[in-house]
Amino acid sequence: MAAPGQKVVLITGCSSGIGLRIAVLLARDDARRYHVIATMRDLKRKEKLVEAAGDAYGKTLSLLTLDVCSDESVKQCIDAVKDRHIDVLINNAGIGLVGPVESISMDDMKKVFETNFFGVIRMIKEVMPDMKKRRGGHIIVVSSVMGLQGVVFNDVYAASKFAMEGFCESLAVQLLKFNVTLSMIEPGPVHTEFEMKMIADVSKKEFPGTDPDTVNYFKNVYLPSSVDIFEALGQTPDDIAMVVVVSASRMEQGKLFHQPGTAKENRVDWDRRPREEGIYSLVSFADLRGRAGV
Ligand SMILES: NC(=O)c1ccc[n+]([C@@H]2O[C@H](COP(=O)([O-])OP(=O)(O)OC[C@H]3O[C@@H](n4cnc5c(N)ncnc54)[C@H](OP(=O)(O)O)[C@@H]3O)[C@@H](O)[C@H]2O)c1
Repeated sequence: MAAPGQKVVLITGCSSGIGLRIAVLLARDDARRYHVIATMRDLKRKEKLVEAAGDAYGKTLSLLTLDVCSDESVKQCIDAVKDRHIDVLINNAGIGLVGPVESISMDDMKKVFETNFFGVIRMIKEVMPDMKKRRGGHIIVVSSVMGLQGVVFNDVYAASKFAMEGFCESLAVQLLKFNVTLSMIEPGPVHTEFEMKMIADVSKKEFPGTDPDTVNYFKNVYLPSSVDIFEALGQTPDDIAMVVVVSASRMEQGKLFHQPGTAKENRVDWDRRPREEGIYSLVSFADLRGRAGV
């Protein structure tokens, strides 16, 4: 249970990668500012997190089961939190999908939207009303640089993140009136299971319904370049977790952060700005206030 003065932080998708590292960094905060509720859909996968959290486990870190694709699981999880009080909600759970679009089943595409888009909305719908009532809270969404820029053969994944961007940018303006902050983090390539799961997935595939030129382009041009890009620009899950931790601790500034993540040197570039420099945008609180008339 959270000690007086501690912020309750709930994170989705903590069995691996970025979510696991966010949970550990926040739970091991020197000033013990947070009580972290790390969630995952299968608690049998908790070992890596528990080991990395060390003695924070059971003190500033507790675990709950949560599948962002299930209404019932989301409700049960939030009901299990004391007074349903969450100060910071970190939407991290997500899945990838690459390949020629004609070879991907509609069900697989829907699963990506169900997780990356509706999964986040399901969480926000369950947590936001309470934050609005309390006139305080912070919602963080781990989007992707592919929420800002399409990348060949990542059509559906990029679309799910673009959808999230539109949703959050719209909601952020309304939430200003309620002192609820919404931040988006947009990492470039990160070395996690995400990358391995996608490579493992495509190596099993036959690409039914796809012409030989496209299969050749995908297998012999896209996949090797993707590996090169991860090699050259890949960040660590800790790099991204640090950005999230900074965002969580600076919630009072109320910025909608867009995290330019394709170049290492840009990673934590909160304040320098963008539009003229490229596709990235950071909308300042003042900007949003102006637009929302609050
Ligand atoms: N890695 C990258 O290059 C990269 C780049 C930009 C953005 N991102 C984003 O970063 C976020 C985290 O990804 P990651 O790189 O850390 O990958 P990861 O290691 O594969 O972690 C993804 C996490 O999401 C969980 N998850 C998947 N479906 C879920 C569901 N229905 N309910 C609850 N949890 C679910 C997974 O849990 P299970 O163990 O149950 O599968 C896992 O814990 C994602 O939103 C991803 O889109 C990643």
